[in-house]
Order: sequence, then structure tokens, then C-alpha cells
Amino acid sequence: MLALDAERQGNPLWYHNSSFIGLMLYLDNFSDSFANMEARLDYLEELGVTYLHIMPIFKMPTLLNDGGYAVSDFRSIDSRYGSDEEFDAFLRACRQRNISVCLDFVLNHSSDEHDWAMRAKAGEKAYQERYFITDDKSVVQAYEEHVNEVFPATAPGNFTYSQEMNSWVLTTFNHFQWDLNYKNPEVFLDMTRDLLQWANRGVDIFRFDAIPYIWKEWGTNSRNLPQVHTLMRMFRLALEIVAPATIIKGEVVMAPSAVGPYFGSQKAPECHLLYNFTFMVELWNALAIRDSRPLRALIEKIPHDIPSGASWINYVRCHDDIGWGFNETVARQMGFDPFSHRQFLIKFYEGSFESSFSRGQLYEFDSETLDARNCGTCASLCGLEKGLAEQNEWEQELAVKRIVLLHAICVVVSGIPVIYSGDEIGQLNDYSYTFDFTKSHDSRFLHRGKFDWALANQRHDLNLPSSKIFHAIKRLIEVRKQQYLLGSANTLTTIETSDHAILATVVTPLERDYSTELLLFLANMSEFQKRFTVDLALHYLLEITTFKCLIQGREVNLDENPLILGPYEFLLLSPA
Ligand code: GLC
Repeated sequence: MLALDAERQGNPLWYHNSSFIGLMLYLDNFSDSFANMEARLDYLEELGVTYLHIMPIFKMPTLLNDGGYAVSDFRSIDSRYGSDEEFDAFLRACRQRNISVCLDFVLNHSSDEHDWAMRAKAGEKAYQERYFITDDKSVVQAYEEHVNEVFPATAPGNFTYSQEMNSWVLTTFNHFQWDLNYKNPEVFLDMTRDLLQWANRGVDIFRFDAIPYIWKEWGTNSRNLPQVHTLMRMFRLALEIVAPATIIKGEVVMAPSAVGPYFGSQKAPECHLLYNFTFMVELWNALAIRDSRPLRALIEKIPHDIPSGASWINYVRCHDDIGWGFNETVARQMGFDPFSHRQFLIKFYEGSFESSFSRGQLYEFDSETLDARNCGTCASLCGLEKGLAEQNEWEQELAVKRIVLLHAICVVVSGIPVIYSGDEIGQLNDYSYTFDFTKSHDSRFLHRGKFDWALANQRHDLNLPSSKIFHAIKRLIEVRKQQYLLGSANTLTTIETSDHAILATVVTPLERDYSTELLLFLANMSEFQKRFTVDLALHYLLEITTFKCLIQGREVNLDENPLILGPYEFLLLSPA
């Protein structure tokens, strides 16, 4: 481990190269336990991913645990996943295969079964001071006046009444997730100690969960307060000193202007990686409206003045819902009223909008404001579920194309792509959660089904939609690995085409010098064949017109007028 520290200190941007491609999975869905995991690494290696995010595995309450995000002991693995030795063997196996491992570290709260919470309930004052506990209802009311609810439908209110203490406990998320009080230095010290022991075990990446919430101040909205950034600096410094081979991936689901600051500055960096949440939203937005403009606007706005070690995590789907935080200014420019447009997206991805190809469900529906978010697997949201149910081969074909296109955009846009396990074989929604009383209240379990090994094992039967998806994504990964320009540090620019359905993006080195070193990505965001023109010379003063598609292998001449792209077809072009 010390050798690895030294190696990565010599190459501090080790995670920036184009071979760094992630996949996230639930251990129980993918392999049941760590003991079975080693054999399944072959599959992940075949796909080509080099970083693995294992969803929460620390000790958690048996029944209600928010998919593991309610942690009962930050130092031990839940026994249902295996022993310490099995976990260590898994880490070693990953290391041998050059796969980096990422674990969640939930900063904002513990479960109400954590030893600290149990001692607080038993009346120990020192442990009550690790949480926000009050017997004064006016304190609760004063907080509620300024602070929004995160789960308004499934867990309304920010406090939970505890009978044992005859008091209210701050529970921003679910009633069994007690917010930790970082004003008490013991909390920071113990959490840091717990974090570092995982770093010393060999974990490479920590996903810091729900960062913006970790500092509360009555009278404010208790989100993104300056003290949160101070704490992030402190965690980062502790890791840099003790385990410099590790990096932090931050989960900050906020408006874009609040996300970037969590990279910190060149002199005072915070997170190495941040989820590009808005990118994911605009992908789904663009797909529903068959128009590339939301993505174009987003790509143009990706801030490049981030610290040199920083990078975005780009993803199509993850374990959470899709919340419709699209760019309202762009929506207005396109002639959409933001409220109506949000209603359209909610219904489109629920499948209730007429002619929608999608099959999803609502999440946190608010009957007063009509606001909601959406859940569903990539494949079901892209039309595969509908196409299969209706035995409509053309619909199935279109769905496959949509799934591959979304992943292709993810592979090209600056940052690190992360695949959500199951999406690479087009896994459909799993409705069985509705029969499980520990899950039925939370529609996010719709896209957290068991990994379909039967389907994955048929991946060499190329007639199946699932196999077509697997091989297309595998190919995208191969191509990304061969193109250093697709590593996380590059410059992305978009260019005008004659049709809004066509996304045209140019990837150049970070220091753009108008050389021939570039890639051109052209993608049709619609199911209609498109004829269009694009003038690269206008923007890049280039003489070259002959390109080769790195995916399809065919030559494309940009002088051809017009160019033609089939339904959801894309080209990744390199000068021939
Ligand atoms: C993060 C997780 C989400 C969880 C929440 C509370 O947002 O991604 O799944 O419910 O934190 O821990």
C-alpha cells in the first residue's frame, strides 16, 4: 500500500486517463457476497471497466436501511456480504486485475441503530451531543421554517420524535437516519478515524454521500454552508496525509452553480471527482424532445477552470431517481414553459404521455405542486420494455439504439463514464419491490433489481437486444481506451448543424492549438433519418475533410452534402 502511495504521488492524475471507466453495482444483486465476487470479476473485465463502485456494504439495520445508506457501524462490513477476510481477498483480486475499488462513506447521518444513537437513546449526554436533539418544539419549528424536505412524500418533515428521549431528532432523510452534528469535534475525529481505516485496507475511492447537508445553522437553509467546504478540506487533507493513493468522489445533487465549488480551488482542493448530475438530466431531456440543444448548452457551459486533479463523473443512470433540474433558460429559449416542460418529462418517463416509448414510475410525487421525479432502468426508460411487451422488433431496435447512444455521449463528454450495473445488458424494471414491505414505499427499488445472469450469460447470442447492447457498450469502452483524447482532461466545443436533432461536438486537447488532433462526434437524437450539413472548417480552419469513424470503421467525407444519419445513429470521427 505504501508503494502504491508513492506510485500515485508520482502520477497524481492516475485516474484521468481514458482507460478509467467505472461501473456501479449492489453486491447482493450482482453476486450475493464477496466470496462469490471474485469469479464474477471475469465478466467485468470482459466488459472492460477498470473501476468498481460497490454500493453501501457497511453494517446496516436488517429491514429499513435506505439501500445501505443508514449505517450502523462505519467500521464493519455487514455480515450478509461476508467476512473481513473475504472483503480483503476481494480487494486483492481487484488490485491484481487493475480494478480500483470505490466504497460509499455516508457523512451526513448514521442509522438509529448505530452505537452512538443507541447510547443517546439510553440517555448518555455525550452521545446525544453527536446528533441534533431537542425537547423544545419551537426549535424544531424554527428549523422547518427555513429548510426544505428531501423526501417530502416518503419522509415528510426534518425531525423525528423519539419516545425514549421524549425529544425530537434531526432526520433530514428518513426517520431512521439521524443527522450527525459536526459542531461536536468528536464526530469529525471518529468519522475521520473510520474513513482512514478503510483507506488503510486498500480502498481507492470514497464516495462521500450527500455532502451539502453536513453542516446545519438555524435560520439558514442548511445547505452548502461555508463550513461544509471547510470540513471537506479537512477530510481531504487527512486522506492526503495518511493515504495519498486515495481519492474522493463527491455526491452533490444541487443546482450546477453550487456543485462546482466542491472541487475547491487549485490551492485548496476538495473533491477529486463530482457527479455531473445535470448532464444526466439533460441527456434524458434531449432524448424525450429529440433535440440536442439542452446538451449543447450544457457542454458549452462545462466549467474548465477546475483544479487540475478534478474531473466529472458522467452517467446515464444510477441507483437514485431522475430529478428534473434541467436548464430553464435554455428551455425558455426553445419555447417551453419550464413548469409545463417538467410536467411533460415526468409523464413522458412515467409512460403516461401519449406516444411515449418509456416505462417508468414516479418518485416523491407531490399532489399539490404536481412535481415528481422519475425512476426506471435505462432500458425500460428507453423503450425496450414496451418493445418487448408489444413484440415490436422495430421498437426494440430503436430502444437498443437509444441505450447505446446515451452511453456513447457519456463516453465522449469530458469526465469519467460510470455504467449502472444491468444497463449494459438492457435489464428491465423489477416490479417485485412492490411486494416487499421494506421497499414498497420507495420506487427507486424499481431499478435496483437482481442482476440477470441468465441474460448476461447469453451475451454471445447476437440476436438478442441485450447482447447487442453489451457488445456495443464494450466496443465504446475499447475505443475510449485507445483514444487518449477521451481521457477526462480535454476541451469540448459544440458546432452548429442544420438540424437541431444533431449533436455535433469536437474534442480537442486541453490546450487547443488548432492542430489536426481532434475527434468529431456527430449524433442523431431522434428516430428519424436526418440529412444535415456541418461546417467544421468554419470553426477549426481545417483543410481535412476525410474522416474515419472509430466505431463503425467507415470513411466519412465532410464535403458530402448533406450528411445522413439514421435513427439515433452516431459517428465518432478521427481525421483519416
Ligand atoms: C444519497 C444517496 C441516496 C440516499 C441518500 C441518503 O443521495 O444516493 O440513495 O437515499 O443519500 O443517504
